[in-house]
Amino acid sequence: MLSNSPIVNRYVDRTPSSQALAARALEQFPSAITHDSRHTTPYGIYVETAKGPRKWDADGNDYVDYFGGHGALMLGHRNAEVEVCVQEALAAGTHFGSSHRFEVAWAEAVKKLVPSAERIRFTSSGTEATLMAMRLARAFTGKNKLARFRTHFHGWHDHMAFGVAGHFDGTATPGVLPEVAAQVVLLDPDNIDGVAQALEADSDIAALILEPTGGSGGMIPLAPGFVAQLRELTEQHGVLLIMDEVVTGFRVHPGGAQGLLDVKPDLTTLAKILAGGLPGGAVVGRADILAHLDFKAAADKDFEKIHHPGTFNGNPLSAAAGTKTLEIIANSDACAKADAFGQELRVKLNESFKRAGVAWAAYGQQANFFVFMNATGLAIDPNNFDPLSVPYQDLKAKPPGLMNKLRLALLIGGVDINGAGAGVISATHGADDMDQTVAAFEAAVAMLAAEESLPRL
Ligand SMILES: Cc1ncc(COP(=O)(O)O)c(C=O)c1O
Repeated sequence: MLSNSPIVNRYVDRTPSSQALAARALEQFPSAITHDSRHTTPYGIYVETAKGPRKWDADGNDYVDYFGGHGALMLGHRNAEVEVCVQEALAAGTHFGSSHRFEVAWAEAVKKLVPSAERIRFTSSGTEATLMAMRLARAFTGKNKLARFRTHFHGWHDHMAFGVAGHFDGTATPGVLPEVAAQVVLLDPDNIDGVAQALEADSDIAALILEPTGGSGGMIPLAPGFVAQLRELTEQHGVLLIMDEVVTGFRVHPGGAQGLLDVKPDLTTLAKILAGGLPGGAVVGRADILAHLDFKAAADKDFEKIHHPGTFNGNPLSAAAGTKTLEIIANSDACAKADAFGQELRVKLNESFKRAGVAWAAYGQQANFFVFMNATGLAIDPNNFDPLSVPYQDLKAKPPGLMNKLRLALLIGGVDINGAGAGVISATHGADDMDQTVAAFEAAVAMLAAEESLPRL
């Protein structure tokens, strides 16, 4: 029971200002929150300020931040150079209702890192980017269906809403038309033969979209060579390949997963790091496909173009933050630094699970980590954990009460991971953050073991 939990009591004792704000928020927002992944019981922390890898809540408690602006903050909070550029842009005006130099520089910075971006269209979010990518694919191919993978997340519009955390049978989630869901072909992320069969069987598939380092931000990794195989299969069947690099773009490699894996997609969706911590997204890719947004191409070739408004597309503040962020990533070892921190942290966390005798594992790739809580009690060795040996349903399934308590216990120790048990790492995380994180995990496991049954080694 939550109310009898020493973990909950300690958390509540140290966060009275957050509790008071949460009580006010409950009168305004469903579940008192503005993004589902912030759902925390009894309430989440309210943050006042942040710098580098750290943030401070309304009671002055200090946290190592692994939420990382939902993955947008590759350079940590409040990078000084980015801040100057945003202030310059702010002083010029926040919205001209006209084209401006900031968006041109932003697109040039994207193209420098992502050579497949022959043409670029900015949006306000990643959800809008995947929506437009899908629409472009349909307009370009004249085909109707979209293929995507179970557990892969592409935002929350109707075609993407199911098959991520549940509804793996492809049935629509509340508010989504069954007729829309019927136009989506859901595939297993661990079965290349199944993909080949699906593309063979259905000639109405316009595009295949995926998270190129694995579903849910890499939580469900893909077998080596899988993405290259997808490239071949999609080419064979005249299906467009859309890499959703909203998370991986400028994180796993300066050139994104396509740079890391050396696989060229037809279209790519970007957001998060793209806009340097401000709102923004983009769909980028082949010029002949993005021509379906082009007035002249439509007139010359006599087709109806795709209509694309969007009040905040190419917003100058986002453009300024994004341009500077991409410039820093291109000219520094930011990605490599965050990657190295991730590798070391995962090893240290697994050593601590082993010392505690708990059959959990930390895994991941590059600048992230995921905690496998082993809900079904598999026999695992934390130091030699291979997530590819675990069915994707088990990797995705988190015991919800336990995960919530782990998060509270980590917050007590000054560490904030996200609600899916994942952490994203920035180029600013350093040795002190590593030590605080490992200590917080050790203390959290001990606190949890005292009040819950954990899988044992
Ligand atoms: C891979 C991926 N695609 C798309 C999205 C949607 O982006 P946004 O939240 O900007 O709408 C997300 C968001 O986390 C994501 O992780």
